[in-house]
Amino acid sequence: MPHPLPVRVAVLVSGGGTNLQALLDALHDSPLARVARVISSRADAGALARARRASVPTAVLRDPSDPAELLAALGDAQLVVLAGYLKLVPTPVVSRFRDRMINIHPALLPDFGGPGMYGQHVHEAVLASGATESGATVHIVDEVFDRGKIIAQEKVRIEPGDTPDTLAARVLEAEHRLLTRVVLELARRIG
Ligand code: GRF
Repeated sequence: MPHPLPVRVAVLVSGGGTNLQALLDALHDSPLARVARVISSRADAGALARARRASVPTAVLRDPSDPAELLAALGDAQLVVLAGYLKLVPTPVVSRFRDRMINIHPALLPDFGGPGMYGQHVHEAVLASGATESGATVHIVDEVFDRGKIIAQEKVRIEPGDTPDTLAARVLEAEHRLLTRVVLELARRIG
């Protein structure tokens, strides 16, 4: 039985790309999946340099709210991963990739999600709430920020004296582990 080809993964980014880097490292030479393209909402995203270093084709969106442009950039991707992507995905794109588009969020959804809940804002809100734990969530992307079906979560402790920065660093490590695991599991099902 010949090996099926690796699942083509497209990664949407807006920032530094540490989640992208975790995927590039984990999928390098994997028979299951490969990062086939990286699409950024910003020309200055550090994630683009990471993609180029890994010889992965890149694209920068002129208008992230334009479904036609995003669909063209996604091309023949079979799985779409939002990794630090800060824009709402237009509905026609959500429909085209129904149940094949996931997002990584730096908190335990459904808490601490929704518009404006990204980066440090999330960790500040979690600490202010007095919560004793936080973590990362991977969920299906639908038409509303951070609302899609939760696929998996990884919890982290909140330590006395934690600041938004120390909590962010601990959650980010959980994100990298969780995202890699979920992408490989989905690739096994899609492949
Ligand atoms: C981080 O806050 C991460 O929690 C969220 O997006 C931000 C940047 O991630 N997913 P990355 O380093 O660009 O992957």
